Amino acid sequence: MRSADSVSAPVWDPRQYLRHTTHRTRPFLDLLQRIPPLPDRGRPARIADLGCGPGNVTALLADRWPDAHITGYDLSPEMLERAAKDWSGTTPGGGWLDFRPADAAHWTPAEPHDLIVSNAALQWVPNHPESLAAWIDGLRPGGTLAFQVPGNFTAPSHALLGELCALPEWRTRLGGQGRRFVHILEPAGYLARLTALGCEADVWETVYCQLLQGEDAVLDWVKGTALRPVLTALGDDREAADAFLAQYRALLREAYPAGPDGTVFPFRRVFAVARKPS
Ligand SMILES: C[S@@+](CC[C@H](N)C(=O)[O-])C[C@H]1O[C@@H](n2cnc3c(N)ncnc32)[C@H](O)[C@@H]1O
Repeated sequence: MRSADSVSAPVWDPRQYLRHTTHRTRPFLDLLQRIPPLPDRGRPARIADLGCGPGNVTALLADRWPDAHITGYDLSPEMLERAAKDWSGTTPGGGWLDFRPADAAHWTPAEPHDLIVSNAALQWVPNHPESLAAWIDGLRPGGTLAFQVPGNFTAPSHALLGELCALPEWRTRLGGQGRRFVHILEPAGYLARLTALGCEADVWETVYCQLLQGEDAVLDWVKGTALRPVLTALGDDREAADAFLAQYRALLREAYPAGPDGTVFPFRRVFAVARKPS
């Protein structure tokens, strides 16, 4: 399932990822609000969630479309196991939720879909702008493609990670691991592609001024996401991982000093909602 086109897949840790659920879920709720009603065809909607992770945001789709058949796709066995354990089966509204392994770099709908969503996942899929056409093609007329990608890869959290990985001490083992997201488009880039595909598109960006709690809160956040490739690469060498984390922790403490009410961690995100003509 893991392909050379996708960024080589890191090992994910659902428990660590779910430590900041409130902040991580909010952009998905904001995205969900902007999705127009799906075409009413007198049968349950068919919905896909690409890069579904531990499934908690996938399950939110069932609140809006209670009888839908919703499938979450992910590359990570760890995430899929957690998603299936927590969320698979009949939904409270009589719909169905399941989870399947798939590489979003190559996924296309095997049957027409009413809605394809992706939250905080396509930054891991280098060719995703090229896949938009196939995903729109796989929608029923009037269906929607909606996604959100982080747009904060020049922020200190990510810039410092890239610089640290490029130091002579780490370059051989970690070169490139801190700069994996350069293929994200600016909002205008997504808008141009989606309108060129004939969609009505709504694209925007938001900076969430997140107030994180706890010691080394930004480090704790990135341990669930951007640090996965580094932690995976150093996974068999505890001493090296500890040394890397100590250096990165010191840089993050300086860039994001803890205040009396928590640590401010601004986070830019880019959103796109594209409706296929009826
Ligand atoms: C930051 S998590 C987001 C999870 C979930 N969508 C959410 O909003 O909580 C990114 C997820 O994308 C998945 N992922 C990364 N590359 C992928 C690919 N090529 N195909 C499918 N899933 C992928 C990861 O395994 C991970 O579960």
